Amino acid sequence: MITFPKDFVWGAATSGPQTEGNFHKQHQNVFDYWFATDPDAFDSGVGPDLASNFYNDYENDLALMAQAGIKGVRTSIQWTRLIDDFETGSLNPDGVAFYNHVIDAMLAHHIKPYINLHHFDLPVALYDQYGGWESKHVVDLFVKFAEQCFKLFGDRVDDWFTFNEPKVVVDGQYLYGWHYPCLKDGPKAVQVAYNMNLASAKAIASFRKICPDETKKIGIILNLTPAYASSDDPADVAAAEFAEQWSNNLFLDPAVLGHFPEKLVETLAHDGILWDATPEELAIIAANPVDYLGVNYYHPFRVARPDISPKSLQPWLPDIYFKEYAMPGRVMNVDRGWEIYPQAMTDIAINIRDNYHNIPWFISENGMGVAGEERFMTDGVIQDDYRIDFMKEHLSALAKGIDAGSNCQGYFVWTAIDCWSWNHAYHNRYGLIRDDIHTQTKTLKKSAGWFKQLSERGSFSK
Ligand code: BG6
Repeated sequence: MITFPKDFVWGAATSGPQTEGNFHKQHQNVFDYWFATDPDAFDSGVGPDLASNFYNDYENDLALMAQAGIKGVRTSIQWTRLIDDFETGSLNPDGVAFYNHVIDAMLAHHIKPYINLHHFDLPVALYDQYGGWESKHVVDLFVKFAEQCFKLFGDRVDDWFTFNEPKVVVDGQYLYGWHYPCLKDGPKAVQVAYNMNLASAKAIASFRKICPDETKKIGIILNLTPAYASSDDPADVAAAEFAEQWSNNLFLDPAVLGHFPEKLVETLAHDGILWDATPEELAIIAANPVDYLGVNYYHPFRVARPDISPKSLQPWLPDIYFKEYAMPGRVMNVDRGWEIYPQAMTDIAINIRDNYHNIPWFISENGMGVAGEERFMTDGVIQDDYRIDFMKEHLSALAKGIDAGSNCQGYFVWTAIDCWSWNHAYHNRYGLIRDDIHTQTKTLKKSAGWFKQLSERGSFSK
């Protein structure tokens, strides 16, 4: 039997842009714009217009989540829905009403809201005008938006996050070109990483003023991908050390410790691409650490020495220090192309315990995306035993870390209801609840029943 602490939160995570649909939305974010101009970039040409229709269907969706035993929901407020004028931070009344209704409905269903302020969804106008996260003016506009959220909803929402996976914004939007604006620009990506750290700290500073009550907490959600060296050879070990700093510590250290990883700063300075930072900004980062962390964990990062020389990549890319390594024999989620490695949950827990003041933290996302799930349907129910096994394996590894003293306070599965996902649209399904996008019907999968028992008992048998 695997047992979790008494007040452990059993939740589900999702995001505004992946669920709401674009009804009555005031502005386009970068994904809305990308889809409008290049639908072929999305699986089967399916964009975010309808998503899971949460804008219209939230009452029903929340009732289903409650039936699945979900006690906390982590979702996001869309900047492009709440705000009318980005420069002044003036409000869109329809957006205010919508998020008020959603938060009230969550509370009515005894679901605790965990509200995140940015889930990859930069307003496209702020990219067009200022280059998006490259700009410190955009940092200040984000803080205006955050302040509106704290003032409007801080009476009912105790738990907040500034960003979801800022490293994916750095990599996807500015460094490797997976997400619009599809840039491949190392130096810009370095500045974006700094600016997003600064934006998080500045938003936290505002939060402390607007929501001073000690029961109100704020954090950041990071996708931690522990870097494992391909061999004991010092060149591979050095590659993994750099990858760990670049992929994880670049956000983890400022958020919790209040400063950037020294070795990484030295390397970036040596390469002549260190960010533009002022002493005043660094003081804001130092003075505003998070109350807790959200950790999204899906897969590890296997790393080997690079096979390109520093001079061969101009302008700068971090790939001069490491390359991703496909370890023979690793277990894969073939549909998503990610390695399945539950042991990393324990490793993350111990790392936070030993190197990050044993700060309180949550698994804010973990889940299994599977394509063509209808093939597993019997009597109208998706028999997703693979998803139950995936959760069991990851939760067992997490429990080891908690038993060793790590302060993990909850597990948020990705996700409650099948949702739209960036370029992959509806290809891989992650939900405990199926969304038949053709008939728009939502039904509990087998995993929802298992999750309900887990959340009622706080334990499961292996
Ligand atoms: C996380 C994101 O990185 O992974 C989610 O926060 C995303 O938004 C999830 O949906 C699963 O990834 P994907 O690309 O398979 O949807």
